[in-house]
Order: sequence, then C-alpha cells, then structure tokens
Amino acid sequence: MSTQMDSRSVLQLAESQQEPLCFNRFVKISDREDKCDIPRSAWRPLTENYNLQTWKGIHLDKSPIEIALYPMLLYELQPKTIIELGALKGGSAIWLADQLDLFSIEGCVYSVDIDLSLLNNNARTDSRVEFLEGNCNNISAVLPPELLATLAHPWLVIEDTHVNLVGVLEYFHCNGLQSGDYLIVEDTNKVMWEEWADWDDKELLARVGRKLDELRTWLTNHQNEYLVDTYYQDMYGYNGSKNWNSILKRI
Ligand SMILES: C[S@@+](CC[C@H](N)C(=O)[O-])C[C@H]1O[C@@H](n2cnc3c(N)ncnc32)[C@H](O)[C@@H]1O
Repeated sequence: MSTQMDSRSVLQLAESQQEPLCFNRFVKISDREDKCDIPRSAWRPLTENYNLQTWKGIHLDKSPIEIALYPMLLYELQPKTIIELGALKGGSAIWLADQLDLFSIEGCVYSVDIDLSLLNNNARTDSRVEFLEGNCNNISAVLPPELLATLAHPWLVIEDTHVNLVGVLEYFHCNGLQSGDYLIVEDTNKVMWEEWADWDDKELLARVGRKLDELRTWLTNHQNEYLVDTYYQDMYGYNGSKNWNSILKRI
C-alpha cells in the first residue's frame, strides 16, 4: 500500500472515529529522516511574503501549513496553557488565543519576547495574552519554575526565538513538561534556510541552520520521552512543514 493510500485510510478512520488515529502515529527521532516531501523550490515562494501576512491586521509569522495544522492540534490537545517563545508583533499569540476561544477551550496564553516594544498595540492591550519581556538565553528569569508550577496542563510550548534551543528544551523538560504535553520547535526545515542563503542576517541564518541538528541530538538523548507526532508532522507529506521532526509529544 502506498504512503498516499495509508494517509487517506488514516483520515477516513479518523473521521469515522472522530479522533485522529493512525498506525505508528508516535515515533522516535531515530525512526525519522531529515527530509521533506515538499519540493525545495516551493519554500521560497511559500515564505517570501511573510511580511504581508496578517491576523486581525497584525503581522503573523506562520506558514500556511502551520496555519492549517495548529488548529487541528489545538482542538485535539485542548491545551490549558500555551507558552510561545517569540512574540514579535503579537499576531501569533492573538491567533492562538482566538483558536482557543473558537473551540471554547479555557486556556491561558503566555508569549515571551526580548523586546515587547515590537508588539502591535491591539495585541498589547488584548487581556487574553500575557506578554512577558525576557531573554530566552536566561529562560528561568522570564518563566521561573515557581510560575511554571502553577500552569495547568496540558501545555503546548512553541519555540520560535531561535536562541538557546538546547537550554530552552532542557529547561522545560526539567521544569514542568508532563506526559501528554506538546512541544513544537519552529523553523527546523534546513532546505528552507538553504533557499534563503542570500538573506542579510548571516548570524540568524547560521543559528536557524543549526536548529535541526541540535534538536535531533537533544531528542536522541530523550528517545523515550519525546516522540514525533506523525499525524500532524506528515499531514502534508513527510515533514511537509517548515518545522521538521518537531511536533513532539511528551510521553
Ligand atoms: C520569528 S519571531 C517570532 C514570530 C512569532 N512567533 C509569530 O509567529 O508571529 C522571533 C522573535 O524572537 C525574539 N527574540 C530574539 N532573540 C530573543 C531572545 N534572546 N529572547 C527572547 N526573544 C527573542 C525576537 O525579538 C522576535 O520577535
């Protein structure tokens, strides 16, 4: 049976059972490859006009694939807490809060950035999101263990600052991630970054270019604790996302 057929069967099964089921849905990082079914040539046009993309008039830095995937995950997970690292204009935090409202999920959204002066005013004044200013190189200062201990589960943690990845993963691992929680590491698609090799910010390019390797090494040390959720990860083809092997469930 082809992969296409497998996926279709899984979706039909999911629909009939009203929940996303699939065979071998959760897999170890050692069973995953660093490759993607979406052709290399698609990534530049898919991401080129990010600066034009908005939610309620606020810049939203997500690809169309994540815009389709995250609501499905949110509906299934019913998170009580979302922690976003990297607020930028606040568009994604407001979008996440709106998804919770849409699904009548009573969850809290925290969004961290080193520079909250970047926030759009409508985001800043939205009482559903708690924006926290702080440096993810010193994550315990902005999200201290005492605060994390008060946050209801399940959690969805989205890493989108591209700094101190291993430190951040280790911090959440040791300070609160529980069985059933989800963790997403954004922008681990190496091919996408290769297509952006002409970008001016070489330092950022170097950091994002390392993310997938850093994630794989960390996950290899936590093989039995974090599994890739292939239902979402491979919905648009193998690793069909700007986030490769990085939709993770804490087991
Ligand atoms: C890719 S943007 C976030 C985009 C946003 N999540 C979205 O989807 O619309 C990355 C953000 O990380 C922030 N950032 C960079 N270095 C940081 C650090 N050391 N600590 C916290 N935030 C940082 C930047 O200020 C920037 O706003």
